Amino acid sequence: MASLSSLANPISKISHSSPKFGVQITISRNVSSLGHGSPYDQLAVFGSTVTRSNSVRYSFRVQASVELTQISDVPLLSCSEAIERLRKTRECYKSKQKYLAMYSSVFGGVTTDPAAMAIPMDDHMVHRGHGVFDTAAIMDGYLYELEQHLDRFLQSAHMARITPPFDRESIRRILIQTVSASKCRKGSLRYWLSAGPGDFQLSPSGCHQSALYAIVIYDQSPSDYKGVKVVTSSIPMKPPQFAIMKNVNYLPNVLSKMEAEENGGYAAIWLDSDGFIAEGPNMNVAFVTKGKELLMPHFDKILSGCTAKRVMVLAEDLVRDGKLTSITSSFLGL
Ligand SMILES: Cc1ncc(COP(=O)(O)O)c(C=O)c1O
Repeated sequence: MASLSSLANPISKISHSSPKFGVQITISRNVSSLGHGSPYDQLAVFGSTVTRSNSVRYSFRVQASVELTQISDVPLLSCSEAIERLRKTRECYKSKQKYLAMYSSVFGGVTTDPAAMAIPMDDHMVHRGHGVFDTAAIMDGYLYELEQHLDRFLQSAHMARITPPFDRESIRRILIQTVSASKCRKGSLRYWLSAGPGDFQLSPSGCHQSALYAIVIYDQSPSDYKGVKVVTSSIPMKPPQFAIMKNVNYLPNVLSKMEAEENGGYAAIWLDSDGFIAEGPNMNVAFVTKGKELLMPHFDKILSGCTAKRVMVLAEDLVRDGKLTSITSSFLGL
C-alpha cells in the first residue's frame, strides 16, 4: 500500500486493490482544498471524535456488489498538515478550554502544545474502554489529596487488570512534574492508565505496553456555594463491580447527567437495586437531617469518593463544636 508521502502533486490518484476481496479503492486528492485560507474541518480532542463542518464534502459511493469505491474531496494530509489543522481547530476553542500540559508515556514526556495532546486511536482505552482514570484538584499550586487519589487509581487499574507501566513512586513523580511544567496554580489534574496501543482486537494481548496519560486543566470558575436541584435517574446504574472502580465507561453517567439537565436539574441521583440512595453521575451525596445528623450512603456499591471521605473527617470537628450530632454511613431510603 502506498504511503501518503508517495502521493504526487498537484493531484494524486492511487489505486489499491485487494486480491482477496476483489475491491478496488481509488483515492483522489483535491489539492485546492489544502491551500491557505481553505475551510478546515474540525478534528477532535484526544483522537476519539471527529466532527466536520459543511464545508467539507464526503462522497462515498458504495454499490451493493461493490467492485469500486470512490472517495473524493477528502483531503489527504501529511503529518505536519494534520497537526497544523489540529492547532487551528484548538485556537478556535482557546477561550473555553485551557489545557496547560499533557504527559504521555507513549511519547515519553510532557507537552504544553494542545495540538500534540492526543492519544493513539488504537489504544485499548479508546476503542474498547479498557482504561481507568482519576483526578486531583490543584489548589494554590498544590495537588489536593494526591496520595488518596493515587491509591484509588492503582486499585482501579488492578480491578481492570491493567499493569501500570511504572511503579507508584514514578507515577507520582510524573504527575507532579506535569503540573510543575504547566505552571498551573488552580485547576485540575486528570490522569489515565490504559491497556495501551495495540491492534484493535478485543483482547489486550496485542497491546504492546500499558500507557499513562495525564493532563492539566486550568480552572478559573469561581466557587459556587449555592444549592443545586437534583432528580432521580432512570438510567440503570452500573453493577457494583464496575461502579466501585473509576473506569472510563461513563456512558450511563453521561446519560444520567443529560437526563438531569433535561429536567432542569444539575445531577440525577441513582437508587440501587434495593431502592437505596447510591450516588450521582460524578459525585457522592450526603444528607444533614433536621436532627443535625450527617448521613452518607455506604460505599459498597458506589465509588468511594475522596471528597466524601474528606467531608466525613472534617465533619468530626463540627460534631465536636456541636454543629452536627453524628456522622453515619448507612443504607438510606428516599
Ligand atoms: C461516579 C462517581 N461517584 C463519585 C465521585 C466523587 O469522587 P471524588 O470525590 O473522589 O472526586 C465521582 C467523581 O468523579 C464519580 O465519577
